[in-house]
Parts: sequence; structure tokens; C-alpha cells
Amino acid sequence: MNLYFDNAATSHPKPEQVYLAVTNYFRNIGGNPGRASHAGSLNALRMIFELREKLARLFNISDPSRIAFSFNATDALNMAIKGYVNKGEHIIHTSMEHNSVLRPVAGMCKKNIIESTVIPADKKGLPDLDFLADSIKDNTKLLIINHASNVCGTIQPIEMMIEIAHSRNVKVLLDAAQTAGILPIDVQRLNIDMLAFCGHKGLLGPPGTGALYLSPDIDIQPWREGGTGSFSDRPHQPEYMPDRLEAGTLNSVGLAGLSAALDFINNETVEKISSHEQSMLSSLKTKLNDIEGLKLIGNHVPCVAVISFIVTGYDCADVSLKMEQDYGLMCRTGLHCAPLAHKALGTFPQGTVRISPGYFNTEKEIDYLVNSLRNIVLDDRLIPLKG
Ligand SMILES: Cc1ncc(COP(=O)(O)O)c(C=O)c1O
Repeated sequence: MNLYFDNAATSHPKPEQVYLAVTNYFRNIGGNPGRASHAGSLNALRMIFELREKLARLFNISDPSRIAFSFNATDALNMAIKGYVNKGEHIIHTSMEHNSVLRPVAGMCKKNIIESTVIPADKKGLPDLDFLADSIKDNTKLLIINHASNVCGTIQPIEMMIEIAHSRNVKVLLDAAQTAGILPIDVQRLNIDMLAFCGHKGLLGPPGTGALYLSPDIDIQPWREGGTGSFSDRPHQPEYMPDRLEAGTLNSVGLAGLSAALDFINNETVEKISSHEQSMLSSLKTKLNDIEGLKLIGNHVPCVAVISFIVTGYDCADVSLKMEQDYGLMCRTGLHCAPLAHKALGTFPQGTVRISPGYFNTEKEIDYLVNSLRNIVLDDRLIPLKG
């Protein structure tokens, strides 16, 4: 038996209609959207147009053209950070950020383009809000928040953080890689200035898909420039969205799959998806807490269904190896591309074992996972850490 518990990395399986839509697009549509007037190109363009509208409905975005497609969340975050913040300006982000934020920011700091401040988090993964307020300076341009941790699931208090930032004229970029499709997100109610997300995790679409939403009063410099199929006689990138940020051929096959995934989510509803994940999360936490020697990390409420743990005295890699080899359980081990989060949680540099159930996991599978872990922790064939 093989059971997939690594949905925080990418969701698997996808809804059946996603597989069908990808095949149908490849076989029967196939044109390059917005590039020609033949049926293949027009049908592709229609699909992309409808997808933008579906995403706008999901996130309560008033103008779908403010959504620019990207190839993943990393791509969308890079577009936002590098396109919005200028030389001499200051960025604040939390210590729960993924390397897709930490590395572009560190790279810009290293080249002396910008400066940055990291808001410390406590052992639950929650940020120090007083520190945030005190860190805002005259040149602070952007606050970046990871909506929910990909290490321990902690959902950040974004409403309070956005209020603090906006009270000092600082814009907010929300990294919704772990929450899009899993938590309701209303960009207008929350006053989100920029929303970056991927299509391949909670939105249940194929890899190679993602997007960046920009609120109407935000303009960013394009990160890549090139063909858009529009105003081809002009030397510069079009000024209007989404062409401003969408140079080059889109991953239309992936986007066709994402569009079908959004139909699935819309039918099921985000509320139902969230409630199923919360029920698995709470049963997992209760049952894992009962296993002596297994320690949950950042065990905090509210959380998305991402659980990190360590087995006291044992190497995480050995635990996950046994999980897969002896029980067919697929999960992820290590730092999960979020080194500062592990420093805050006290699990740096060894990291944790991470379990992330998805919408298609069942309570029966959760029980199998818990029983397997109980056996593994009691199994003396695990090799204790030295020292
Ligand atoms: C919080 C967070 N941000 C960004 C990313 C990057 O996402 P992608 O792999 O789509 O680039 C991830 C991926 O795990 C993530 O968990």
C-alpha cells in the first residue's frame, strides 16, 4: 500500500476532471492563447479568460485582469518582490517565510539594493506584533506574510498584521501557497494588496501553475518582458494587466487542468474542504499526542493540516525512511525550505518529519498512519542519534 501525505509540497491525487481536462486540452484545443484568430488559439484564450474569472470569484477579486499567471508560487513572489520594491527601500517579513521569499529578499540585500527586517516568531510560529510595529520605518515599502506555515501549519494573524502595515502606508504581499483553496480568502474584505499563490497545492491543479493578484492601486515593474500577442509594433511591454506581467507562452495545458480543479473546488466548496482537513488535523493531533516519544512541533490552533513532529533521540530521515519502506507512507523530512521557521520552532538544523494530509485522505488512512507511527516509535531497529 502507498499512501500520500505530502500535500503541502504538491497535492496528489488530483480530481478526476483535472486529468480529463489536461488530456482534452492537449488533444483537442492545443493553440497558443491570444496569439492567433484560429479556433485552437481562441478556445485556449476563452479557457484562460474563464479561469481568471473563476479565480476572481474564489478570492472576491473585482477585476479578473488584475490576476497574472505565473509558473508556481515562487515565480509569483519573485515577480511581486522584485517588481514592487525599489533601491533604498525596506522590506519586512516574518521568520515563518519560505525560501521563495527569504532568498529573493536576501539576494537583493546582498546587492545593497534594499534592506530587510525579520519579525521573530515564538514556538507556536506566531509573530511578535509589537516588533512588527516597531520595525516600520519611513522607507518601509512592503510587509510579506506567509499566510500559513508549510512547516507547522500555523495560520498567521493576518488581519492584525495588515492593519498595522496599512496604518503606516506599508503594502502587504500575502503568500497563500499553503492556504489557497483550503481557507476562504477575500482580498477585498482583508485589504490584501498582493496575493501570490500556486495552482498545484490546495487548488488541486497541475504543477507549473500559479498567479499573482495585484490590487487596483498597485503597479509593479514587469519581471520578464517579451511577446504578449498584443501591441506587437511597440518596443515596450504593454502597461495594462495582465499583459504587463504575462510575457511569453503560458502553461495553458496546466491552466486547463487548474480550471477544472476550480470547478471541483467550487462544487465541493472551500468550507467543506477546510472542514474535512480540520477534522483530520484534530484527530491526527489527538492521536499523535498519545504516542510517547513523539513530539509535535508548533502544535498550535488555528492551523492548516500540516503537522511537524520529531521522535526524541532519533533522526527524522530514519523515521520517514521507515514510514515509507515498512508502511508505504509518503511524507517529507528536513527543513522544508523554511530555515528561519525551524530556528523559531527550535528544530534547526535537523528539521522535522512533516505530514500533510489532503482532501482525498480518509479517517481510515489517518488511523493507519497513526498506528504505523506507533509501531515505528516502539521499534528498536531505529538508530538513536549520537551524543
Ligand atoms: C509557504 C510557501 N510559499 C511558497 C512556496 C513555493 O511554492 P512553489 O513550489 O509553488 O513555488 C511553498 C512551497 O512549498 C510554500 O509552502
